Amino acid sequence: MAHLWSGRFAGDPDAALFEFGASFAFDRRLFEDDVRGSLAWAEALEKAGVLTQAEASRIRTALEEIAAAGASDPAFFSSEAAQRDEDVHSFVERELVARAGDAGRRLHTGRSRNEQVSLDLRLYLKRRVPQVQRTIASLMRVLAAQADACGATLMPSYTHMRRAQPVLAAHFFLAHGAALRRDHGRFAGVLSEVDELPLGSGAIAGTSYDIDVKGIAARLGFGRIVANSIDATGDRDFVASFLHACALTMVHLSRLAEDLILFTSEEFGYFELADTAATGSSLMPQKKNPDPLELVRGKTGRVIGRLAGWLATMKGLPIGYSKDLQEDKEGLFEAEDTVRASLDAAGAVIAGLSINATVTEAAASGLLLATDVADYLVAKGLAFREAHEVVGALVRRLVEQRRTFDDMTIEEWRAHSPLFDADVRKAITPAASVAKKRTPQSTHPDSVAAALDELRAWLSSTDVRT
Ligand code: ARG
Repeated sequence: MAHLWSGRFAGDPDAALFEFGASFAFDRRLFEDDVRGSLAWAEALEKAGVLTQAEASRIRTALEEIAAAGASDPAFFSSEAAQRDEDVHSFVERELVARAGDAGRRLHTGRSRNEQVSLDLRLYLKRRVPQVQRTIASLMRVLAAQADACGATLMPSYTHMRRAQPVLAAHFFLAHGAALRRDHGRFAGVLSEVDELPLGSGAIAGTSYDIDVKGIAARLGFGRIVANSIDATGDRDFVASFLHACALTMVHLSRLAEDLILFTSEEFGYFELADTAATGSSLMPQKKNPDPLELVRGKTGRVIGRLAGWLATMKGLPIGYSKDLQEDKEGLFEAEDTVRASLDAAGAVIAGLSINATVTEAAASGLLLATDVADYLVAKGLAFREAHEVVGALVRRLVEQRRTFDDMTIEEWRAHSPLFDADVRKAITPAASVAKKRTPQSTHPDSVAAALDELRAWLSSTDVRT
């Protein structure tokens, strides 16, 4: 059996070991990138005078045929010959030689699979990362629609998972949108890291042919050329960056899922899951389980694992290419698939969510207005620390009596501080609490409306950009 490197060996490799080292089962996903890279390489070799015009054109025609076959016929990858291909590069080269004969055999001049696989992966990410970003933007659009639908409805916010202060429900949805927006930016960072052409690095030392790397970069849409051939052939930092962006996106989705698992439970009852977004129990007829959200939360573990695993794989490697680097692809593909599926699932669940305003607003009133009571005293001239003390004592009393601020008489208020006036009853409401906030990032209804507008403007501009 002939491999790309058979000449060096007296016989065939051990079948099981060959199988162990083969990557075609998964790196076929880089097929169209490999063909694109080879088309650019053929052009560069022709410019360098390594290929004649006729040879380059035979190669081009054959590669285009191969690309078309790959795009239209899934069986193309499982032909008998393909079963024996070591990786996607060997597959494309074998198909090329079968079509273009001797010209095809010249294509690998001055090129190594070490740089080729880095190129393929970079090209792959250049086309796939924008798709991940679009999926993030779709979920952000769903969150924006929910924020819009919630209008002025209030709900409690939580710190330490204890009721903190009233907020607009819209502010809650936009909070998760804000985290996803950072993820979107993090993926943009990955794209910029990936934007370096590794071709011209050879196996490690560079290439002795007159390759116009700038021309290849321009043709393939790369902004820069790698700085160092040794580094370039062994560098997969961009895979770690991609996995990090995926892992953090999953962490955000997991937190969102956790919030919604809690808030749709009987204990909270803030939101209702659409029937289409829930599952029943095989035993307990009353159950309406949030399985998709639990799976989003659960799958976060495997994506974090892929990041941790990849960092562990890289840490022991000497500089330059080692076969260990082949381990990058399965993790990358799995993380990508998991993030996209989870973003879609979260979007489908959230699109069908309805808010139970009576419940959220009832929960948003009561002792979580204590900070507003303290602020009231501050407005009357008391130092905040003292105000905190006064209100703390008042809260302690109310908790003992199982009451809230709502049914306190003015005499009771004054018993705690003479600074309380009759206006305190109007000042201490959930709506007044949010209306008193001043900063642009706050839950003041105008700030939230402005944040929603700004988000929508950003979403329509990213639509155009990605
Ligand atoms: N399948 C290999 C990988 O994914 C391609 C590069 C192989 N290079 C080599 N010298 N064996 O890394």
